Amino acid sequence: MRLGLKDAAATEAAGAALGKVLPAGDLVIYLHGDLGAGKTTLVRGMIRSLGHPGRVPSPTYTLVEPYELGRLSLKHLDLYRIADPEELAFLGVREMQGTVLIEWPERGAHFLPNPDLECRLTVAAPGRVLEAEGRSEAGRALLAAWDATNREAGL
Ligand SMILES: Nc1ncnc2c1ncn2[C@@H]1O[C@H](COP(=O)(O)OP(=O)(O)OP(=O)(O)O)[C@@H](O)[C@H]1O
Ligand SMILES: [Mg+2]
Repeated sequence: MRLGLKDAAATEAAGAALGKVLPAGDLVIYLHGDLGAGKTTLVRGMIRSLGHPGRVPSPTYTLVEPYELGRLSLKHLDLYRIADPEELAFLGVREMQGTVLIEWPERGAHFLPNPDLECRLTVAAPGRVLEAEGRSEAGRALLAAWDATNREAGL
């Protein structure tokens, strides 16, 4: 899937479209892209569409932000500031259940679970380009459903 996102609202809308079709159960999503590419904005759209009324802060300093969203349990990670990937073993990232969203997965080396879905955001003035690929059966099914909800949202 490849999608142009003209502004931050479009990135949030794409995240909301993904939130709509997110299945309960274990699923790992990697979010690639440079600093400021829009990864947290996409996650914010997802988490808000799942009914979270409060803030969705960047986990840059906390490393992980957990959410309980009705039938879904979700963890949002940002590994940008991780000093040593071994910290991830200590955090038990591989054992995390539910939806696991990981910004800067390349910093986690081999301490991360394999992704079901990989997303990449790229700055493309004006706006951003979002690319996504399924890496498992569950990830490919999710991607097909997401493609449909993006269309419904006019993206
Ligand atoms: N499609 C878009 N067009 C223009 N600006 C956007 C778009 N999507 C997001 N932004 C803006 O880009 C900025 C950075 O977004 P965000 O914090 O989500 O990036 P990030 O990839 O999570 O960065 P970091 O690696 O620092 O965590 C924000 O000001 C956001 O509003
Ligand atoms: Mg971020």
